[in-house]
Amino acid sequence: MSPLFINFVYVISAAMFIFGLKMLSSPATARRGNLLSALGMFIAIVVTLLAAGIDYKWIFLGMVIGSAIGVVVATRVEMTSMPEMVALFNGFGGISSLLLAWGEYHQNPQMSVFIAIVAFLSAFIGGITFTGSMVAFGKLSGKISQQAVVFKGQHIMNAAILATALLAALVFCLTPGTGFGYTVFILIVLVALGFGVTSTIPIGGADMPVVISLLNSYSGLAACAAGFVISNNILIVAGALVGAAGMILTNIMCKAMNRSLANVLFSGFGTVTAAGAASDGPQGEVRPATAEDVYYILEAADSVAFVPGYGLAVAQAQHVVKELGDLLEKNDTEVSYAIHPVAGRMPGHMNVLLAEANVPYDQLVEMDDINPRMDTVDVCVVIGANDVVNPAALDDESSPIYGMPIIETHRAGTVIVLKRSMNPGFAGIQNALFFAENARMYFGDAKDSIQALVAEFKSV
Ligand code: TAP
Repeated sequence: MSPLFINFVYVISAAMFIFGLKMLSSPATARRGNLLSALGMFIAIVVTLLAAGIDYKWIFLGMVIGSAIGVVVATRVEMTSMPEMVALFNGFGGISSLLLAWGEYHQNPQMSVFIAIVAFLSAFIGGITFTGSMVAFGKLSGKISQQAVVFKGQHIMNAAILATALLAALVFCLTPGTGFGYTVFILIVLVALGFGVTSTIPIGGADMPVVISLLNSYSGLAACAAGFVISNNILIVAGALVGAAGMILTNIMCKAMNRSLANVLFSGFGTVTAAGAASDGPQGEVRPATAEDVYYILEAADSVAFVPGYGLAVAQAQHVVKELGDLLEKNDTEVSYAIHPVAGRMPGHMNVLLAEANVPYDQLVEMDDINPRMDTVDVCVVIGANDVVNPAALDDESSPIYGMPIIETHRAGTVIVLKRSMNPGFAGIQNALFFAENARMYFGDAKDSIQALVAEFKSV
């Protein structure tokens, strides 16, 4: 197979990756986008293997075993466990790049300085990605403590580890072909594996989705470097795309939470901050409502916007919410679902849950689209959301979430808040919305509460 033909097929694969990624940006096209990119990767793999003229026995065996495990795991995984699974994928991607660079170096130790640099990057970033992702997986799945493990001198220790790695990289790149160079390479691998752990344990479980997105980006960068090591163009392109996409997603999440990446990585957020802040927040009188009260409010409304948050996922209330939405539509009420980019605990969390309940895509409204017309919404039903509707983000400069964009439910005619108690959400702060004149608190588990509303609608 001529290199020209191979590169031609690679260009087609790369185009399929890019269009696939573009299609992921809308729920309506996301499935097809995923399939298109997967097909692009399949074509790239076939051409690469055919061109290499190698013994496929082991590769084929690996593909069969890997695919079988992948199919079983992917069909069994709960939607809400997706971040854990992505963490595992990232980790495996990282270790693959590490092993690829190591294998290539082992076979051809007489490397140019450039190849030595990219081999170092592939092994180092790949190693960090592997162990970092395993820690992220452990925290998210509850196999290890979700607490941010912070101790004095931690940043200095991590900086020292990083400095050691960079020094070792310098030595390695100057002497890759010697026995000493090989020993230094092994040291780099060990340091990378250790650094993956020490840089991820200080981050609390709730921040893991951001970390996973960052590790996703790392796995792409490691693959990109590995592509240079073995001179494979499609690996370079695919790695760069994953690296860039992961970085963009990380950036979007940080912006939507109004936090810098440094704050996510180094502050130990989500562990110590919560308790004190909650009791210091706004106080006042809340107006509790019963299912019957809420029924009358909803029954009289011309437009209702549901605003789901983490509590919707906890209660698994998506199916009953859809049922209530259908009943409201039958009652000639305009129904929409307002989605905040970081509602819940993972990117697209609310979209995934609502899609599972077959909520039509055209009823999903993004924060930036609903806010300008919030004054015309009769009733907002906040379902297990807290931080993403907290007005302190707009007007309280001392609030940790000040500056974070929110869904401005306080501007709607009436706000009904479904939650179990007055407990704070992820940021650990009280919410003035709950004490607002136009707010009614409908306490209870979100699923039970909505079921009760459905029953009210059905009883008439
Ligand atoms: P939160 O602010 O965490 O509030 C969730 C609320 O749901 C809680 O106040 C809780 O109150 C309620 N709740 C829990 N279980 C419930 C149940 N079974 N029934 C009814 N209510 C229940 O959630 P949010 O508004 O979605 O905001 C997300 C937060 O997570 C933001 O601060 C965001 O920055 C952060 N975060 C998001 C992501 C991504 S990518 N989405 C990643 C990391 C961090 P009760 O206990 O009183 O019921």
